[in-house]
Amino acid sequence: MFSRVLVQTVLFLGLVSSCAAAQADDSFVFYGFTGANLTLSGQAVLTSGGLVQLTNDTAEEQGHAFFPLPFRLRDHSNRNRPLSFSTSFIFAIVPKYPDVGGHGITFALSPTVNLPGSMPSQHLGLLNTTDNGNLSNHIVAVEFDTVKTVEFGDINANHVGIDVNSLNSVNSTAASYLDGGTYRNISLMGGGPLRVWVEYDGSRMKMEVTISPMEVARPKIPLLSAIVNLSSIVKEETYLGFTASTGAATETNYVLAWSFRLDGKAEELDLSKVPKLPAKDKPGRERWRVVLPIALPSAGVFVLLIVIAMVIFVARRRKFAEVLEDWEQEYGPQRFSYRDLYRATRGFSEEQVVGVGGFGRVYKGVLPSSKVEVAVKKIAHESQQGMREFVSEIASMGRLRHRNLVQLLGYCRRQRELLLVYEFMPNGSLDRYLFGSGRPKLSWEQRMSIVKGVASGLLYLHCGWDQVVVHRDIKASNVLLDGDLNGRLSDFGLARLYDHGTNPHTTHVVGTFGYLAPEVTKTGKATTMTDVYAFGAFLLEVACGRRPINMRSSGDDSLLIDWVLECWKKGAIAEAADPELRRGGGEEAAEIERVLMLGLFCSHTDPMARPSMRQAVQYLEGDAPLPEMSPACLDASSSAFRRSEGFDEFGVAFPYTLTTSFGRDSSVGEWFFTQSR
Ligand SMILES: *[C@@H]1O[C@H](CO)[C@@H](O)[C@H](O)[C@H]1NC(C)=O
Ligand SMILES: *[C@@H]1O[C@H](CO)[C@@H](O)[C@H](O)[C@H]1NC(C)=O
Ligand SMILES: *[C@@H]1O[C@H](CO)[C@@H](O)[C@H](O)[C@H]1NC(C)=O
Ligand SMILES: *[C@@H]1O[C@H](CO)[C@@H](O)[C@H](O)[C@H]1NC(C)=O
Ligand SMILES: *[C@@H]1O[C@H](CO)[C@@H](O)[C@H](O)[C@H]1NC(C)=O
Ligand SMILES: *[C@@H]1O[C@H](CO)[C@@H](O)[C@H](O)[C@H]1NC(C)=O
Ligand SMILES: *[C@@H]1O[C@H](CO)[C@@H](O)[C@H](O)[C@H]1NC(C)=O
Repeated sequence: MFSRVLVQTVLFLGLVSSCAAAQADDSFVFYGFTGANLTLSGQAVLTSGGLVQLTNDTAEEQGHAFFPLPFRLRDHSNRNRPLSFSTSFIFAIVPKYPDVGGHGITFALSPTVNLPGSMPSQHLGLLNTTDNGNLSNHIVAVEFDTVKTVEFGDINANHVGIDVNSLNSVNSTAASYLDGGTYRNISLMGGGPLRVWVEYDGSRMKMEVTISPMEVARPKIPLLSAIVNLSSIVKEETYLGFTASTGAATETNYVLAWSFRLDGKAEELDLSKVPKLPAKDKPGRERWRVVLPIALPSAGVFVLLIVIAMVIFVARRRKFAEVLEDWEQEYGPQRFSYRDLYRATRGFSEEQVVGVGGFGRVYKGVLPSSKVEVAVKKIAHESQQGMREFVSEIASMGRLRHRNLVQLLGYCRRQRELLLVYEFMPNGSLDRYLFGSGRPKLSWEQRMSIVKGVASGLLYLHCGWDQVVVHRDIKASNVLLDGDLNGRLSDFGLARLYDHGTNPHTTHVVGTFGYLAPEVTKTGKATTMTDVYAFGAFLLEVACGRRPINMRSSGDDSLLIDWVLECWKKGAIAEAADPELRRGGGEEAAEIERVLMLGLFCSHTDPMARPSMRQAVQYLEGDAPLPEMSPACLDASSSAFRRSEGFDEFGVAFPYTLTTSFGRDSSVGEWFFTQSR
């Protein structure tokens, strides 16, 4: 347990650390880090056992641990050639659930010890959304990444990469090591300690990375290499250390030991001196140790217990029965057990209901093993047909990761029931901040940041993934707010449920009245352009604080878009804005106007005339001016919608009925109609 620190030549650190130009001497070895004076920031802590723990089970967090003094990695006497170095360290990643974790750990060369501005999740505590790839980062890192982030071109969810100023690695490969003549896979999230060697040869400018399980001898051939001119990338004075981050799913990242030498070979780590990882709690086993000695002596009681146990077992089996078919094995980690979800939501009790939508009820829950808060969406489904396609789609949706999407953590399937497990969003859905009296208030700045977030999430669905994902149901009630009031899109891809396993001769049009593009009612086809239309309606509702359709019992519903158009024609589009927002100054008023105009532009009747999501993002960010528009060219938008064919033919089904709610504002939910081909 006791960790020992061997500081060979860094002893003079204490003497010079107050001087700004202080610099580390050229080598160190740490077995555990007690007394090592590493600079810790973020979630990083030193455990009682002396390990550096960079992150714990808190979601969306990051941690940094850096050697406190910088190193000079350039040789001034030799035309600024980079100096060679060598380092070896032992780390471990312990995920909260087996096989589901995030996001990984890096060994980093950085100009600072705390990386201000860095973000958690896919940014690994190293970079952020705006500085990826920027030469002024001066960062080189070796990443051990446990999530496949499409945005950064990750190859899989278990890889090692060399990163230069960017999370798009210059070289990366699946984590493995050479054993004899064959490569054996390593699971980075396996929980066991892994040993790494990073060597940089200044004369060839070559960085080489080797990894193996701790107890295995060093593989002869490095796993990964890259040519990097460190002199042109890192700062004159560079700090060395580690970063790690968690996302929606969490993992604990540890560093156990570390050696380093500048211009030479780092001391080979002596495994007998490496401190142990903390033992995992196994309360179950402890309990049996107490129960068994009491139960065993009495055979009669024991038999009785078995009978009772069997009765309970059969009853529970029925209660917790799930549908699990062979083809579902491949989705293993994303599958939750019904028992866990049942416990998490206190038996799907009414008190846990946090929402009722077109797809079913949503329950708040706390997963029993991890104490992670989740939202469980319970969807009734009648047909078994098509379930396979749907589940495979759901599984691939689980791989979509973006800070403005509500992360899907997994699913569970039972007879006539599908359960989807999402991250829990403590601030609920956006619509309750927009409509009605007595609502909580959102400033324009907050609304704008939500709008931008939603736009960037939608752009990611359209362009950031290897296949285009059409959301099909953008609206304020499908935008949820996380703890920091960031807008997150939910329910993406869910509308596809209607496509599978239904009568092939009918086309279901899915969406919500007021957000459906006019062409959808004719073609029945959802495209990225129909999403843009709905996004336009969404912009208007956020800026105006009104629903797209205000139902009146008389039947002459007023459309929000008509009204905004009218205000614009009068030359007073600002009058359409939410009265709560009208007090703002000039800059704010101009921004509100821009959002209203963009809302109208997105609502153009002609799909080809609408902007793409990429353009919409540029307009929102103010990176491009909105094109000139005249009221005349947009005039047809709303009336075309009402006239469209097939509109009177709606038949409503699963799982939500519209029938009587048409006249009452608050209960208008999703609806769709069926068209015969
Ligand atoms: C760490 O810092 C403390 C006080 O800040 C000092 O007493 C100790 O000697 C330092 N240890 C090393 C290894 O530099
Ligand atoms: C994680 O670490 C932070 C900071 O050290 C602490 O506040 C938090 O309680 C920890 N969370 C868990 C789940 O251990
Ligand atoms: C990203 O990090 C840089 C520093 O590297 C910082 O200046 C910038 O503000 C950060 N951006 C965001 C969006 O946090
Ligand atoms: C890179 O970062 C610097 C400083 O943060 C900033 O001034 C510059 O605009 C950024 N360059 C790009 C291409 O984003
Ligand atoms: C090792 O990992 C690679 C990449 O993830 C995979 O293609 C391969 O099947 C794995 N091999 C074994 C033996 O598991
Ligand atoms: C990536 O690393 C492998 C293994 O060291 C090496 O063979 C390959 O040439 C490297 N690719 C690049 C682009 O450096
Ligand atoms: C490496 O970068 C340094 C600093 O930018 C430069 O002076 C040197 O010429 C570069 N070396 C090579 C071989 O490109």
